[in-house]
Amino acid sequence: MGLAKSFSVFLLVCCLCVITNIIDNNNGVEASHFVFPHLQNKLAVQVKQLHRTGYHFQPPRNWINGPMYFNGIYHLFYQYNPKGAVWGNIVWAHSVSTDLVNWKALEPAIYASKPFDINGCWSGSATVLPGNRPVILYTGIDTQERQVQNYAIPENASDPYLIKWIKPDNNPIAVPTPDMNVSTFRDPTTAWWDSGHWKMVVGSRRKRRGMAYLYRSRDFINWVKAKHPLHSTPNTGMWECPDFYPVHQDGSTNGLDTSFNGPKVKHVFKVSLDLTRYEYYTLGTYLRDKDRYVPDNTSVDGWRGLRYDYGNFYASKSFFDAKLNRRILWGWANESDSKDDDSEKGWAGVQLIPRKVWLDPSGKQLLQWPIQELETLRGKKVEMSNVPLKTGGSVEVTGITPAQADVEVTFSFPSLDKAEQFDSSWENIDAQDVCGLKASKDLGGLGPFGLMTLASVNKEEFTPVFFRIFKAPNKHVVLMCSDARSSTVKDSDKIYKPSFAGYVDVDLTDKKLSLRSLIDHSVVESFGAGGKTVITSRVYPELATFRDAHLFAFNNGTETITVETLSAWSMNAPAMN
Ligand SMILES: *[C@@H]1O[C@H](CO)[C@@H](O)[C@H](O)[C@H]1NC(C)=O
Ligand SMILES: *[C@@H]1O[C@H](CO)[C@@H](O)[C@H](O)[C@H]1NC(C)=O
Ligand SMILES: *[C@@H]1O[C@H](CO)[C@@H](O)[C@H](O)[C@H]1NC(C)=O
Ligand SMILES: *[C@@H]1O[C@H](CO)[C@@H](O)[C@H](O)[C@H]1NC(C)=O
Ligand SMILES: *[C@@H]1O[C@H](CO)[C@@H](O)[C@H](O)[C@H]1NC(C)=O
Repeated sequence: MGLAKSFSVFLLVCCLCVITNIIDNNNGVEASHFVFPHLQNKLAVQVKQLHRTGYHFQPPRNWINGPMYFNGIYHLFYQYNPKGAVWGNIVWAHSVSTDLVNWKALEPAIYASKPFDINGCWSGSATVLPGNRPVILYTGIDTQERQVQNYAIPENASDPYLIKWIKPDNNPIAVPTPDMNVSTFRDPTTAWWDSGHWKMVVGSRRKRRGMAYLYRSRDFINWVKAKHPLHSTPNTGMWECPDFYPVHQDGSTNGLDTSFNGPKVKHVFKVSLDLTRYEYYTLGTYLRDKDRYVPDNTSVDGWRGLRYDYGNFYASKSFFDAKLNRRILWGWANESDSKDDDSEKGWAGVQLIPRKVWLDPSGKQLLQWPIQELETLRGKKVEMSNVPLKTGGSVEVTGITPAQADVEVTFSFPSLDKAEQFDSSWENIDAQDVCGLKASKDLGGLGPFGLMTLASVNKEEFTPVFFRIFKAPNKHVVLMCSDARSSTVKDSDKIYKPSFAGYVDVDLTDKKLSLRSLIDHSVVESFGAGGKTVITSRVYPELATFRDAHLFAFNNGTETITVETLSAWSMNAPAMN
């Protein structure tokens, strides 16, 4: 691995954030994590290969959730249970890479050892200070079971791998104030430099109000809580893993350093909502004089707002990658099976493929696309073009490995005339529920059409990723679904099989829709319309595994759809920890 020191990037994908609220573990440490005492120290003797991913980031075994990033070499720090495949015993594990695709595991970087983190080392972020000095801010659980914010620095900043980290004794740098609940104060962001201060945000809640507490410091050690939060929203509950960063407003797809201050910029504010277990973001303005963030009136601020991903995607973080001048977003997906199954599998949780993220020219949403380095894993390629699909028609994509593949397809259609009516009552329900009512097997007008991923040969099992176009009074509405309901024939009510869906705000003038799906055994990560809408599903086929998996393009609408172009690749496995 090279010693390139020319750039400094730092990501820390977030969170501890595991399973939902409510259950308190016995010593009352933290109510928002289900704890499985009988499983958390159960070391996986055997790691089951079934459903394990081929090119997504996974440690060799056990529980993972949430990473981070840094310096010439990409560093990924992630929340890890070294002793079992459920949440518990969390340390900051550490892997390094030069291309975000091939990874090498190092020893854990941060683990409980001091009074200010003796009961846990939870999520945080990294910031590179002038002089190329990385600092990690993280949440520790102290001797009084309080969530406090700490910092850590490399023992030897010249070590390209940054293997050893020191947690100075002047920690913690922020403790809950008397008005705060000591169990709801965590996940410090990357800091930004502004008006002679470093500033950072810590996620919290006050009663049901989600809070992003703002802190300022001149020296990165003495931090003072600002009188007002950077932002807060009623009725959203605990804000985990907040992220706050600028994006270009001038049509550039490049990224910006978190501290960038200049014209033609919008800000993104993202939170992981513990109550829904989804991530929401708004676009808005950072009012520097008031140190407040104000969402645009086109961005819904709450549960009905924009999401990075309308499927299984949580605890994400972004970082500015100065090497390729881009902002990268990295999220984590949990398993959809039971905890006992996870323990049995010997592993749980994957990092999704890192995504480049930038502002859509409309200014109303972000766009996302898998990092270009992923394409180095593309192996055998097959292509097709101009294949018409009549009602009920499908075409198989053969000659690649459909269980571990990357597929890009553009569909076209002659007109919008056959679009079904959009029922006005659907305006009050989520896209996911609309997809629940309008499955891929329900005949439509313009759509459903798309891909049948991880399909068994006789199509008893498949995960369809598809579009359905509706006509509303003044516009067309495009629904994109990734529906796990038929993903497995296994008779288990313990598997979570949602009909994930989102709307796609796309111009249909050219009568085309594109889709890219990254298929990896138990992951289907799909990018609609060039990254306008993204949906990730975790599925566990029983029949459509390894060589028995198939891939089809299909149409179940009355309007004929043409597969204008389709390219699919077998994906090779990278070096993985
Ligand atoms: C503090 O937050 C925890 C975790 O959400 C919750 O279980 C507890 O009831 C809260 N305590 C108070 C006093 O509100
Ligand atoms: C720090 O790391 C550099 C580069 O690996 C090495 O040459 C140097 O000996 C290290 N310093 C110490 C004190 O370990
Ligand atoms: C939204 O904000 C813009 C300015 O940013 C303003 O021109 C527009 O009138 C606002 N729309 C509404 C509905 O408030
Ligand atoms: C993880 O999995 C469960 C289903 O097992 C789901 O209900 C939960 O919301 C998922 N997502 C996150 C981010 O925890
Ligand atoms: C298309 O519809 C037919 C008839 O309902 C159904 O058997 C088939 O599974 C559907 N295809 C998809 C991808 O859902």
